[in-house]
Amino acid sequence: MNTPKIIDLPKFLDPRGNLSFIEEARNIPFCIERTYWIYDVSGGEVRGGHAYHELQEFIVALSGSFDVILNDGKTDYRYTLNRSYYGLYVPKMYWRSMENFSTNSLALVLADKPFDENEYIRDFQQFKEIRNEK
Ligand code: TYD
Repeated sequence: MNTPKIIDLPKFLDPRGNLSFIEEARNIPFCIERTYWIYDVSGGEVRGGHAYHELQEFIVALSGSFDVILNDGKTDYRYTLNRSYYGLYVPKMYWRSMENFSTNSLALVLADKPFDENEYIRDFQQFKEIRNEK
């Protein structure tokens, strides 16, 4: 099974302003089928709180900062995202939550599948049972 990892993105530093980019299957280990973003999060709110059966994601803090907490069925791993030139690869079957959003933060999420509610596991006990069977 794949493991989560921080992936550095290309960056072109320029006095006019910096530029980074993502090419599917090159800078991230999958092809992009869907892009969504999370914004206008009020202080103290928590997003996520689910896992996906097969879906993989890549999360970038395009603006501001937030924490992504991943759980592999046993242990929590916390990643603070606060730069737009790296992101977090989230493989399938990791419980993930997002919290500590700063004011005006913007989370970009790239996914390898279209939206499908059947991909979600929204019960943590059920997730742990399935995860620890594998
Ligand atoms: P959800 O993934 O539960 O949000 P989060 O994990 O950030 O807390 O999605 C919230 C709602 O948005 C849910 O009703 C499904 C809908 N949604 C879509 O229709 N398409 C999408 O691509 C996503 C990510 C969510």
